[in-house]
Amino acid sequence: MSRVLSGIQPSGVLHLGNYLGALRRWVQRQDVDDAYFCIVDLHALTLDIEPEALRSQTLDAAASYLAAGLDPDRAVLFVQSHVPEHTSLSWLLECTASYGELLRMTQFKDKGKGQASVRAGLLTYPVLMAADILVYDAQRVPVGDDQRQHIELARNLAIRFNGRYGETFVVPAADIPDVGARIMDLQQPTKKMSKSTSTPQGLINLTDSPDEIARKVRRAVTDTDNEVRYDTEAKPGISNLLEILASATGAGPDELADRFSDYGSLKGAVAEAVIELLRPVRESYEELSSDPGTVRAALAKGAEKAQSVAGPVLARAQDAVGLLK
Ligand code: TYM
Repeated sequence: MSRVLSGIQPSGVLHLGNYLGALRRWVQRQDVDDAYFCIVDLHALTLDIEPEALRSQTLDAAASYLAAGLDPDRAVLFVQSHVPEHTSLSWLLECTASYGELLRMTQFKDKGKGQASVRAGLLTYPVLMAADILVYDAQRVPVGDDQRQHIELARNLAIRFNGRYGETFVVPAADIPDVGARIMDLQQPTKKMSKSTSTPQGLINLTDSPDEIARKVRRAVTDTDNEVRYDTEAKPGISNLLEILASATGAGPDELADRFSDYGSLKGAVAEAVIELLRPVRESYEELSSDPGTVRAALAKGAEKAQSVAGPVLARAQDAVGLLK
């Protein structure tokens, strides 16, 4: 059994990219791995967010975890800020990371662009993410493709810390799927689907109704030659639809391309597959939204278990750097 850890920011309703790139794969892991999944509320503070929105979105994200099929009896589900060991370890890792390597993170460059004032937390964000992972001795981190560079940093920090202070951390590896690791915006298929940058039409939310999903897929941007072919460079819109269908059905994108002779029939099949994939998640989410007690109970149980694992790892790191006991 290997230890896995991953997290999602509560910065809005979760979307199809979060589901295919991360959440759905976590559900498959909970029976085979020793699994830890958190809602990274502290990471959401790196950009502007209203206090009430943060609180309600944290609970909504937890409801989405449960609705997607994560089970508090089979995986440890918790909120990052409920386990203060993450932030304590983060400081030790900030003193391990260099300013230059944090400046080179592409997400920092993208998210900081055009902002009059950039929060220091946006720069140190990947260090807190490294702490999230290292404080559980996690071996694997199931994420989408956009997190690759952050996991590489977590690896480098673990290796550097171990080299300087002696074996302390497990060096984690990214676990990125072959298909569905980078779902693109339906309106701008050269950009990834994202809660912070996509327009409502470019994004499929886990809570969208079947009609909304069908409409968004029907209006997805394609090209004009009407040839169904998987070619992410020349045909990003069609390739994204094929990738979504592949991820939903388990067939390969090239093989699927051969089955469709026009864009209309491909879009019809994608809409149907996504509607059926998300139907149970949406139905269960609606039930859980009116039952915050169940969601909170799952989180309380998860925080207790998480802390029992994180506490000794933090103590090991504090001892290694020479903090007085
Ligand atoms: P976040 O909240 O942006 O995304 C959560 C997960 O969803 C994946 N994802 C996608 N996958 C495919 N296509 C997309 N368009 C798409 N958009 C998002 C992400 O790759 C991610 O797996 N920094 C992280 C959160 C984090 C974390 C961690 C992850 C904090 N600490 C520790 C793993 C381990 C983030 O902002 O993800």
